[in-house]
This record gives sequence, structure tokens and C-alpha cells, in this order.
Amino acid sequence: VTRVALLGFGTVGSAVARRLVAPVPGKPVLTHIFDRRAAEKRADFSPNGAPVVWTDAVETILHSDVDVIVEAIGGLDPAGAWIRRALEAGKSVVTANKQVVAREGHALWSLAARQGRQFRFEAAVGGAMPIVRAIGEGLAGDRLTRIDAILNGTTNGVLSQMDATGCSLSEALAAAQARGWAEANPSQDLDGDDARAKLAILCALAFGLRVDPLQIAATSSAAIVAADFAEARRSNGTIRQIAHAEYDAARRELTAWVAPIVVDRGSLFARAVGPQNAAVITGEHSGEIGIFGAGAGGDATAVAIVSDVVAIARDRAAIVPPPAVTSDFTLRPSPFKLRTSHFVLPEAV
Ligand SMILES: NC(=O)c1ccc[n+]([C@@H]2O[C@H](COP(=O)([O-])OP(=O)(O)OC[C@H]3O[C@@H](n4cnc5c(N)ncnc54)[C@H](OP(=O)(O)O)[C@@H]3O)[C@@H](O)[C@H]2O)c1
Repeated sequence: VTRVALLGFGTVGSAVARRLVAPVPGKPVLTHIFDRRAAEKRADFSPNGAPVVWTDAVETILHSDVDVIVEAIGGLDPAGAWIRRALEAGKSVVTANKQVVAREGHALWSLAARQGRQFRFEAAVGGAMPIVRAIGEGLAGDRLTRIDAILNGTTNGVLSQMDATGCSLSEALAAAQARGWAEANPSQDLDGDDARAKLAILCALAFGLRVDPLQIAATSSAAIVAADFAEARRSNGTIRQIAHAEYDAARRELTAWVAPIVVDRGSLFARAVGPQNAAVITGEHSGEIGIFGAGAGGDATAVAIVSDVVAIARDRAAIVPPPAVTSDFTLRPSPFKLRTSHFVLPEAV
């Protein structure tokens, strides 16, 4: 049996816990939960299956006999250091933390391989949408050239609500917050920081490029107004925050940006409403491959985490080396012009 510990009992962590406690023979089982407010939160969660050890001391988890540690805390610090220590202690790690994966993913993955353990992060990009596996494994036989994607559920919730109701951005944001889709401070989402961290992760997997998320051009969605949607509608379009990356391997040139742009009403992107995500991955031989679905939410994100835990449990001895990445490429500036209104129009999406 694979024994699993959880770091963080928040939205995602508590959903992971609910999925891992049912005692199913041969399935991974949750044995430990770390939370800084363990004493308070354990009352919310007392499964009658196998008893779970609650602790507010992360050392207890790091020194325990678990096989897999799930990190569901978020942020660079202390989560990044805890992931490293978990790997050093000989645990496999599953995380939903895009900041840590974008900054230190390659080093952590290498460390895991040296330790004979695994580092998996399907939940860090696209929520329940298995895009990390699609790119890293499912399409590994192709040479990928382009990714277009909606990667931020909060911004998508806001923009799709503005589109559907004609309301202002602040009204749409309040509605998204009321439905639990948006953080109290959504600037990381609207400004594109969240999406560019995720896009950097995908560039490593798809093109083997080490991209600093801060180098990816980002245009904020915070200035979009109702009139922009009216204008987009005149060309049978709507507005979505799109993350785009295109790699010309012969020239070693990457184009990468995150921006609110006009997308065709008939496109996969226009169909994404609320916290849904969507991606079209283009390969030289496979053509366009689309993937679509729940990009956020505790239960949906927990599916991606539990799927990673299950993958580890199926083959705990598997050593999966990270893909080779290079910094030897040029990042081209964003190719499109800013228009007088607040959104930008691409050459083609
Ligand atoms: N929510 C989603 O839809 C979603 C989707 C994809 C990925 N993710 C990722 O999943 C991770 C968790 O997100 P979440 O939405 O579950 O967040 P959350 O509800 O805020 O939960 C975070 C948990 O970590 C704890 N925590 C935060 N900072 C800590 C610190 N410095 N030391 C100890 N504990 C700390 C929190 O404790 P307190 O309760 O005491 O604050 C809480 O238990 C993040 O990496 C996020 O980016 C979330």
C-alpha cells in the first residue's frame, strides 16, 4: 500500500483528503495531514476509515514513513523548501504549485530522479485538464511547435461573465469571488502572472526550453471594459486571456505572450466559460490537439493530484528523468500591436 501525507488542508488539500481516505484495497491511503491550524481543522475532517495523523509540525511528516507527500500549500516559500526536503528524505512529491514548478521544477525533478523517487505536478497547470501528461507523454513522439491556451480560471470566469451579461469587470469579479473562483486579490490572475508561470512550465515540457516566466510578455486583462466585448462581437469574436507560445526550432526562436485577445466565437476558447480552461497544442505530425475542461476548483484540481499519486503507486520504483532543457534560444518580442481600446488583436489564433 502506498502511504500518502498531505501538506495543507485548504481548498485543494481538503478535496484531496476526501478522495484519499476511502479504504480501497491496493489504493493509496492518506495517513498524515500537516496543517498549521491542525487543531482547528481536524474537527472538520474525521474519516471513519483508517485514522489519519494530524500535525502542525512539518517535521513530523518529513520524518514519517510515508511514500508520497502531496504539497497543497502554494507560494514559493516555505512550500519550495519543504518539497526539496521531502525529496531529500526519500519521498516522492506531488504538487499543485505552479510558482515552484516554474522556478525550480527542473532542479526538483532532477533531485527526485537522483533519489530514485518521482516529482509530479499535473495539477500545477490546467486543473483537472491533463495537459502536463498530454504534452510530456501523450505527444512525446511529435515535435511540438505551438501552444495556445486559456490557463487561468479566474480571468476566464471574469471575461466570460462580462461577455454573457454585459456587466463591468468589477461586477464580474465580485460574482467570481462569490462563487469561489477568484482570490481576494486577483491581480496575479488578471495581470497574467499566473498564466505565464504555467506557460513557462509548458514551454519546458513541449519545447525543452528553460523560460523565465517574468520574461514572457504579459498584457493585463484588468483594463477590459464592456465596450471591448461589443467591439469584439462585431467581428464574431469574444475576448479571452490567451497564453501563446510558438517555437521555431531551426532558428531557436520562441514567441511567448499572455494577453486578452479576440477569439472567434466558434473556437474552443470561446466555449470556455467560468473557471474552464482550454488548450490547442500543435505538433508537426499530429496537427492540432485540443484539450478542454475544469481548470480550477478544489475537487477538479484534486483529481489531477490523486491521478499523480495513483501513477506513483502503480510503479513506485519508476525513475522518470526530467526532459532536457536549454537556455540557448531567443525570446522574440510580442508580435502584435496594441490597439486604441484595451485589448489586443493577434495575427491569428
Ligand atoms: N484552488 C484552485 O482551484 C487551484 C487550482 C489549481 C492549483 N491550485 C494550487 O493548489 C495550491 C493550494 O491552493 P488552495 O486553493 O487549496 O489554497 P488555500 O485554500 O489557501 O489552502 C492553502 C493551505 O496552505 C496553508 N498555508 C498557506 N501558507 C502557509 C504557510 N506559510 N505555512 C503553512 N501553511 C500554509 C493554508 O493554511 P491556512 O488555512 O491557515 O491559511 C491552507 O491550509 C496552490 O499551489 C494553488 O496554486 C489551486
